[in-house]
Amino acid sequence: PVIYAVTPTYTRWTQKADLTRLAQTLLHVPNLHWIVVEDAERKTPLVTKFLKYSGLQYTHLNSKTDANYKLKADDPNWLLPRGVAQRNVGLSWIRKNVPPSTSGVLYLMDDDNTYSLKLFEEMRTIATAAVWPVGLTGGLKFEGPGSCSGGKVLSWYTAWKPERPFPIDMAGFAVNLKLFFQHKNAEFSNKVPRGYLESHFLTSLDLTRDDVEGKVEDCSEILVWHTRTEKATLKQEAKLISMGNPSNPDIEV
Ligand code: UGA
Ligand code: MN
Repeated sequence: PVIYAVTPTYTRWTQKADLTRLAQTLLHVPNLHWIVVEDAERKTPLVTKFLKYSGLQYTHLNSKTDANYKLKADDPNWLLPRGVAQRNVGLSWIRKNVPPSTSGVLYLMDDDNTYSLKLFEEMRTIATAAVWPVGLTGGLKFEGPGSCSGGKVLSWYTAWKPERPFPIDMAGFAVNLKLFFQHKNAEFSNKVPRGYLESHFLTSLDLTRDDVEGKVEDCSEILVWHTRTEKATLKQEAKLISMGNPSNPDIEV
């Protein structure tokens, strides 16, 4: 089975560093097609060049988040959902370009998480949909399926809004392409309450908690971490520019 990984990404100082880390993980994963969707009016030269020399099999797309849903520089990160328009453009691309008979799996990847190679091998055997715990999320050591037996999820480990249909991070599930193609309207939405992005998508595939398989050593191992990269503020850089002493403007960081 082919893994179709959809990654939203947006311009900021740490973008190339995050993409480099992720791409170099993916270089170790056979049979993976990376769909990178920029949150931008136009594809940027930075990402275009980056992908061209990445050595990966990829598709480069773009879709700018509607201004009503776009975070401002000083907004707290949780105020609005992120990556929604981009993931939907990635999903539409799959619907249009991947033959429905393809044996494959769909996985949504943030550009700043940390992924173990073992996770990708676990994913290839998903019958319909599967979940696993995600480290360092939900204000917990991990969140998602808390205990599993023989692939059945027995309990969920979560503290915040435990009533969500699926108390799980985006990185904690993947679905078989067949299920995805069977649900033509399955997509992400900006109009859901905070924390319901994942639940909305999974329920739009007609899934309930009872339908998902618990994977990764019966949910006992963490193979993906919700890491986040510290924002680079570059205060001194601004100071040197104002003093008329800027760095080489042609250097791409
Ligand atoms: C958490 C989840 O892990 C995300 O999958 C989920 O989209 C997000 O919450 C949410 O609730 O919207 P978090 O680390 O808080 O993630 O979010 P980011 O990593 O900042 O953003 C998620 C993805 O969207 C990233 O791939 C990022 O590059 C992209 N993004 C972010 C954009 O495309 N545009 C933006 O303006 C911001
Ligand atoms: Mn993130």
